[in-house]
Amino acid sequence: MLKRPSSKMKKEAKAGSIARAKSIAPNVPARIGSTPATKYRGDPAIFGRLVDDHDKHRALLAMIHATGAKDPARKKLFKEFVRDVHGHAAAEEQALWSTVMRNPETTEFARHAVGDHHKLDKLMADAAARDITSRGWLRHFETLKDEYLDHILEEETEQFVEAEKVLSQKDQLYMRRVFARRKKAEKAAAEIKKKIRHAPLG
Ligand SMILES: [Fe+2]
Ligand SMILES: [Fe+2]
Repeated sequence: MLKRPSSKMKKEAKAGSIARAKSIAPNVPARIGSTPATKYRGDPAIFGRLVDDHDKHRALLAMIHATGAKDPARKKLFKEFVRDVHGHAAAEEQALWSTVMRNPETTEFARHAVGDHHKLDKLMADAAARDITSRGWLRHFETLKDEYLDHILEEETEQFVEAEKVLSQKDQLYMRRVFARRKKAEKAAAEIKKKIRHAPLG
């Protein structure tokens, strides 16, 4: 672990993430409430950067939930959520999970995180394929929201903890730079897939 971030640094990191979400639709409230405690918030290397995104995603999910069916902000926020999560997940796999997967001690943890990404892709495609202005849309969105919040909680409290044990500080700092570069490219190339999901999550 690199130098422990102070509580001021943690607060600033979280506030910055919420502000980035708010910039998409400034009039929609972002009530994300208390976030799960993680030692990585405000960390200067890869794990702190990933938690920054997770907090932005928590804010976007709360904001989408706060919109009415006909509010054009709902569509804008959902689009940003899908594109940002796509860029985040792909870059996380390239910068972090691919290396963590190669180490037999942590293969299972990386596999679990990548497996979740596949399930989330399907849930995002399902919500994107349905009529966002209909009253029933929120039900499908809520499944995605719950699954996504579970995924990032697990990463912050289980998979990052195990990954950190097998990575040097130098690795972690280097990975932050790789992540930033790859996320930018992956987000720019992200396409919003649309596919109704008929089978239950496997
Ligand atoms: Fe993540
Ligand atoms: Fe992830």
